[in-house]
Amino acid sequence: MTRDDVVAAVGGGVVGDLAGFCAATYQRGVGHVQVPTTLVAQVDSAYGGKTGVDLPEGKNYVGAFHQPTAVIVDPATLATLPPEEHAAGYAEVLKTALIAGGPLWERVRSGGDVDDAVIHGCLRTKLAIVASDERDRGGRQVLNLGHTVGHAIEAATGYRRFRHGEAVAIGLACALRLSGREALRAEVVALLEARGLPVSAPGVDSALVIDHLGRDKKRAGGGVPFVLVEAPGAVTHGHHVRDADLRAALAEAGAG
Ligand SMILES: NC(=O)c1ccc[n+]([C@@H]2O[C@H](COP(=O)([O-])OP(=O)(O)OC[C@H]3O[C@@H](n4cnc5c(N)ncnc54)[C@H](O)[C@@H]3O)[C@@H](O)[C@H]2O)c1
Repeated sequence: MTRDDVVAAVGGGVVGDLAGFCAATYQRGVGHVQVPTTLVAQVDSAYGGKTGVDLPEGKNYVGAFHQPTAVIVDPATLATLPPEEHAAGYAEVLKTALIAGGPLWERVRSGGDVDDAVIHGCLRTKLAIVASDERDRGGRQVLNLGHTVGHAIEAATGYRRFRHGEAVAIGLACALRLSGREALRAEVVALLEARGLPVSAPGVDSALVIDHLGRDKKRAGGGVPFVLVEAPGAVTHGHHVRDADLRAALAEAGAG
């Protein structure tokens, strides 16, 4: 292919991230179009230009920012998606609804199906956040809600035990515990469990999870910053939590 050609990423988040990374690096960058076919990809991963691959050492350790020239979303492609992949996507829907608050949160908390309007609400939310902080220097980090612990659990279990969305579900329960929002946590846990998603990771070694948290790409001098929730629509980044609180939240998540 030449630099005038375009890579088309037709598939889920893995295809999108990998194809996007290839497009970012091939001949120092060619265009790419995302055609997401999983719920995770349609509500989240296809937008924003983060591309990359995981290494055993850490989640998304190799990657590049490379915006797609277009994202073509056809919710009809979800008709063949297995139920557990649908559920994994629901974790990202719930995360996005918590960040957005307002009508999207009200719609999602009612427990109804994820329809075109919900997918649209999620993608509008993500695009607005990315537009305000494309390079992830500040505000975009709220999109990491539930992902700090989620990524560490994925890496600590060799990316084999949990789907990305399942690890995010566990991470969301942890983040709401660290936020001290018990009523909201109970509501979110009930919504996740209703979709068959895990909210704990029994048997996972918490020391290994903490080791992977220490390798998080967003770590800074003061440790790994967390995204915390005050209320739906009031989600902020850059919080440092006490070791004891983190250990307690992980213990509750079954990582002991
Ligand atoms: N770049 C980002 O901003 C971002 C955001 C969220 C997640 N991610 C990444 O996305 C990945 C997870 O993506 P995913 O959940 O889409 O998983 P995935 O890409 O592994 O897809 C899940 C499964 O569904 C299959 N599949 C895809 N479309 C289908 C369809 N229409 N019908 C039937 N089967 C179909 C795939 O072959 C695969 O087996 C993780 O690696 C995660 O790190 C990236």
